[in-house]
Amino acid sequence: MQELKKDWWKKEVIYQIYPKSFNDSNEDGIGDLNGIRQKLPYLKDLGVTMIWICPIFKSPMHDNGYDIADYEDIDPQFGTMDDFDLLLNEATKLDIKIILDLVVNHTSNEHEWFQKALADKNSKYRDYYIFKEGKEVPNNWRSQFGGSAWEKVDDEDAYYLHLFGKEQPDLNWENPELRQEIYQMINRWLAKGIAGFRIDSITFIKKDQDFASLPADGADGLVSCKHKTRNRPGIGSFLNELKKETFEKYNCVTIGEASGVNYEDYEEFIGKDGYFSMIFDFHYADIDVESGTDWFKRSHWQPKDFKELLAQSQETIQQAGWAANFIENHDQPRALSKLVHEDYQNKRSACGIAAMYFFLRGTPFIYQGQELGMVNAQRTSIEEFDDISSIDNYYRGMAEGYSEEEALHFVNLRSRDNTRNPMAWNNEQYGGFSQKQPWLEMTEEYPQINAQNNEVLDFYKDMITLRQSSEISSTLVNGTIEFLPDVPENVIAYVREYQGQRLYCLTNLGTNVEIFTWPKEVDEVFINSHKNDIKKAGNSLLPYQSVLFK
Ligand code: GLC
Ligand code: CA
Repeated sequence: MQELKKDWWKKEVIYQIYPKSFNDSNEDGIGDLNGIRQKLPYLKDLGVTMIWICPIFKSPMHDNGYDIADYEDIDPQFGTMDDFDLLLNEATKLDIKIILDLVVNHTSNEHEWFQKALADKNSKYRDYYIFKEGKEVPNNWRSQFGGSAWEKVDDEDAYYLHLFGKEQPDLNWENPELRQEIYQMINRWLAKGIAGFRIDSITFIKKDQDFASLPADGADGLVSCKHKTRNRPGIGSFLNELKKETFEKYNCVTIGEASGVNYEDYEEFIGKDGYFSMIFDFHYADIDVESGTDWFKRSHWQPKDFKELLAQSQETIQQAGWAANFIENHDQPRALSKLVHEDYQNKRSACGIAAMYFFLRGTPFIYQGQELGMVNAQRTSIEEFDDISSIDNYYRGMAEGYSEEEALHFVNLRSRDNTRNPMAWNNEQYGGFSQKQPWLEMTEEYPQINAQNNEVLDFYKDMITLRQSSEISSTLVNGTIEFLPDVPENVIAYVREYQGQRLYCLTNLGTNVEIFTWPKEVDEVFINSHKNDIKKAGNSLLPYQSVLFK
């Protein structure tokens, strides 16, 4: 194999696959590994160079695979280890790298370690998790998915900690033997030839060891666990050790799901000697809510707020390291539904917001279906949701005093099921995803919005070609970024610069036509979401239009 440069991953374009919803090869209504393999030509044609596959390991699927019962095995819903090897092999032949989802803050309660911990109080596995003896709940922490973060152990005066669902007991990273087991597991996967990992909930691995209660912040009398368990002092030594024992040995790429990291700490996370290659920044992704876990706390954001957060994020990351740019993932609503006024949620706007983020400095991530311009689904009853946090948020919304209708509305806006609806490949029954009723409904729009004759898809291909293999590639990959202040409030304007070449990207994130003097006269247009004649349109931008030019 060719020696890879230290920061080889700067050149990649990463495509995120939610395996349950991507493509079903054996017609059981659930996406699977062979289904992904069948679509490799699609991914190659799109131009992406790496895929991140959400968890495919053995799991009872309380949180769709983020509850792992066996790190060494593939869940039968998705296929077998042979299917995985075949996928890896064929992807490699097409020059498409694969990264997996590493979930090591917690396991499933069905994991052998947890089962042994329950079966025998004195077994060494008891200390792999966080158990507290006593009749009373140890403290008032609320789990990320609602309710107490402690679950009582059957037939014992004891509780165990779960920062997510009760089927997801937290691992005790204070235990060195547990840490070694994790590192060995990671190394086995890296030795298999995967290119790296997206690392789940990683800022939660260090808990304040006083396990103290805090003043309640909700009607339930509980307080968000994150104040005592997210990015807490001491986490650095765990993350350093993790990197040294695993990732560093393989020169792999690592993308931390590192919510709660303050910008002052970015250097430690992604600097020259940082823990990860990149981390996801949620500061602007969560623009529509005051808190990513409390969807009934809506924010009333304006385009200029988004612009400020985006500029701050990019400028800080430029000082510290490299960005992981995204507008969608499996925990977020569809970007078109979130960022664009409802009267403009169309394919032109889908292209506009795409160009806005795709040319930022960093590695772009595309979430399945984003490249088709997919939109949120509208569900009329809580029964129609699968996602555990949607169900929790619905009941918590009502407990906080909202009506049932309001609570459902908030959940519809934010539900994680919005991006989990199956991928629509064509306009046939079930969108070509499966021959059978899929595990989650298709979106209503799938007969129109699917992978056939789709202008948004063509636009994504054009953007990827520009970034990967055009005369402006080096600037788009390596260039610095600077946000320009002298533009209208609703306009986002940045310049990418490299070796004297300057590229301008302008986006109108508002609903009015914006007429203003552009920062530079247009010599050459590389991409225009709205396809109009820029020279004729003269210094104006239509609602949600983006233009990249020099
Ligand atoms: C991360 C995942 C999310 C999951 C949670 C618990 O936030 O992205 O889907 O539910 O961690 O593992
Ligand atoms: Ca299947």
